[in-house]
Amino acid sequence: MYLVTPQRLERMKKILYTRQDTLRVFMDYVYSPHNLSAIVRTCDAVNVGKLYYRHHKKVKLNSEITMGAHKWIFTEYVEDIEKFYKDIKSKGYQVVVTLLDKEAVDFREVDYTKPTLIVLGNEVDGASEVSIKYADKKIIIPMYGMSQSLNVSVAAGVVLYEAQRQRAAKGMYDKPQLSKEIIEKTLKKWAYEDIIKP
Ligand SMILES: C[S@@+](CC[C@H](N)C(=O)[O-])C[C@H]1O[C@@H](n2cnc3c(N)ncnc32)[C@H](O)[C@@H]1O
Repeated sequence: MYLVTPQRLERMKKILYTRQDTLRVFMDYVYSPHNLSAIVRTCDAVNVGKLYYRHHKKVKLNSEITMGAHKWIFTEYVEDIEKFYKDIKSKGYQVVVTLLDKEAVDFREVDYTKPTLIVLGNEVDGASEVSIKYADKKIIIPMYGMSQSLNVSVAAGVVLYEAQRQRAAKGMYDKPQLSKEIIEKTLKKWAYEDIIKP
């Protein structure tokens, strides 16, 4: 039995039924709490499968940083970056790195309906060398003004909503990607936590 209202439970179920397990995001040393918060909220809105992050010092995403949105998305701190990339590639994910580089292709040219990890870089240095080494695709959002780059959270929104558009067009939000077991387990956890730490 769940202690949350039926409406709240339905909302939680809808999130889990439409979760895009095969669309994931890695914040590669993104450090500003404002940017972290904005990216987490966009990941929640697009309903990405998992948000990975690493930081100069070990941090845990919490409400102070994310305004609560982190409660609804699966997050994981990356300790060993080489192992992380080897693991995700062995699961069949393409690594798509956002990069201000001449070699990068227009972000709309990528097929985001494939299992995809989108990598966002640090506010000053951009994506790390390791991320670039493992990139299957390097993508750029065309810029026609004086600024060389967008704010990282804005770049995340632009790319993630292209991924959302492609996936919605293919009906990928209409069929659950998570297993029944994970959905049940997560519902129990969310319903419990919603009552004890709303
Ligand atoms: C402020 S930018 C980093 C600028 C850094 N000086 C560089 O040359 O990479 C922070 C991050 O936002 C994303 N970004 C910003 N503008 C972008 C664009 N036009 N195309 C692709 N990614 C972009 C990338 O993830 C980038 O690493």
